[in-house]
Amino acid sequence: MIELKAERILSRHKFPQDRPILVTCALPYANGPCHIAHLRTYVPGDVFVRYLRKLGQEVVFVCGSDTHGTPITVNAEALGITPRELASRYHRHYQEVFRRLNIIFDNYGSTDDPRNHRRTQQIVRTLMERGYVYPKEIEQPYCPRCRRFLPDRYVRGTCPYCGAEARGDECDQGCGRHLEPGELLNPRCAICGTAAEMRRTKHYFLRLSAFEDFLREYLQGLEGTSIARNYALQWVEKGLRDWCITRNIEWGVKFPGEEDLVLYVWVDAPIGYLSSTEEWAEKTGGDWRLFWKGRGRIIHFIGGDIVYHHCIFWPAMLRGSGYNLPWAVVASGMVRVEGKIFSKSRGYVIWVEEDYLEEGLDPDALRYYILSYTGHTKDLDFSWRAYQEKVNKELVGTLGNFLYRVLLFAHRNFGGIPEGLKDDEVKRTIEETIEEILLGLDEYEFKKIADSVLALSAFGNRYFQSHTPWKTLKEDREACSATIYNCLWIARALAVLMSPLMPGKAQELWEQLGEEGKVEEALVAEALSPPMAGRRLGRPRPLFKRASDEEIAPLIERVRERISKAQGS
Ligand code: MSP
Ligand code: ZN
Repeated sequence: MIELKAERILSRHKFPQDRPILVTCALPYANGPCHIAHLRTYVPGDVFVRYLRKLGQEVVFVCGSDTHGTPITVNAEALGITPRELASRYHRHYQEVFRRLNIIFDNYGSTDDPRNHRRTQQIVRTLMERGYVYPKEIEQPYCPRCRRFLPDRYVRGTCPYCGAEARGDECDQGCGRHLEPGELLNPRCAICGTAAEMRRTKHYFLRLSAFEDFLREYLQGLEGTSIARNYALQWVEKGLRDWCITRNIEWGVKFPGEEDLVLYVWVDAPIGYLSSTEEWAEKTGGDWRLFWKGRGRIIHFIGGDIVYHHCIFWPAMLRGSGYNLPWAVVASGMVRVEGKIFSKSRGYVIWVEEDYLEEGLDPDALRYYILSYTGHTKDLDFSWRAYQEKVNKELVGTLGNFLYRVLLFAHRNFGGIPEGLKDDEVKRTIEETIEEILLGLDEYEFKKIADSVLALSAFGNRYFQSHTPWKTLKEDREACSATIYNCLWIARALAVLMSPLMPGKAQELWEQLGEEGKVEEALVAEALSPPMAGRRLGRPRPLFKRASDEEIAPLIERVRERISKAQGS
């Protein structure tokens, strides 16, 4: 029995589980448009959720906009609009881009939502009551000309660790370290350039040092990618310093009881996961407590640059205020553009809307590129030439070629799906593909999954080729019909199994196969059922379009110009 075999395969793997799972993706800063590096968090997160659902796993998928912090106030000031206006502009932008890329959250919230203000203040109050948050007077850079304190992005200076030019909260061009207020050397105002003075002022701190033993143990059992766990453990071994969690600006979540202070953006941002789950629960009648207080499991998808925040700050906050801890943190490697470190200011950037979607390029091809380029924890390079080659060789040349060939043959010579006996070799190969997909999910290796789907289509091509249906058509019609029947089985399995990777293309294929409903809803085990013989098939259309030189050359040129313009300025 096919079903029993499928169950046997499933039971050996990490997913599905008997507990409901909450998957989150890092909340994008609502201060600029979506770029290609963002997609390394959102595409794999979406793919992971879609496969879990295909395995019958109960899962809720949330995200939202990160609307606070000085990057937003600095940009809003420069544009002469309010931070809220800027944030809602980009909030809509992200919703739209995610929709177009088929990244579908059950809830897309915002950290400016009243639920998030309430939940953040509740958590901070609890941390204070339990003695984990305390006030302290510290010296802060202050601009005498602008007459204000200079938190984070308002101040530039020298990194005390590596000597690179850095900003207030992060050594963004050197060693990448998180910097605490007051640490930066030779601080000057980022707005007017005036040398900053140091002034004493009261701030609040989270007693991170009290969580060292807890974190060491917790991190050892943390699921997800090794880069998250291992980096975090190294930081704990070096010893943790208490963390300043307030800022002297107006935009943000007010510190409870102190009208002049807001919380640092990294306090209320991850709490956005919680408030977005609350919003989901209100909308659907679901239960947010199941995940944050009950038996559900939490899995965070993030990029490698924010491991510290998710594996140190966040578990400490949750632990100190009595919520569930993340069960897994899946951190990706970084994204490069044309071989260089991704950088908006240096022009090494691809804008998802402007450079890709508006060019009429296929959203599923971009998903495929991100997933299949390299292992999830390795650096991924986006280059237009590599994109072109992947599209033409793999999507058009292998996957698309097999599907078009067999569908056209079936349409022309049988007018639909012919009769045949199931070939064991085909069945085994589909089972092996499912097995690979499950291993890929266990290891959070999305390339493994994409490769196995592509390999199934390459098998289909070989199967078609070696059974020479164009010959048997005249000599042995029964054999020909069996070959095509089995090839259409492979095609149907491909539709089911590739649907999480390329949801739009999988649905098109599903319809070309004459199937009804949504392939998205077909469970993985469906791949083991062959299509129904006798069904009529229309004339197929090629699923993928070649990326031509005429199309790609101007896009390469656009990046080149952006880079040289950035160098000139
Ligand atoms: N707002 C924070 C996340 C708060 S989560 C409580 C943030 N936003 S972001 O817009 O800068 O990044 C969104 C996602 O994209 C994050 O997962 C981040 O790690 C990822 N990436 C942004 N730039 C990246 C690269 N250059 N390479 C790989 N991923 C990176 O961080
Ligand atoms: Zn100034």
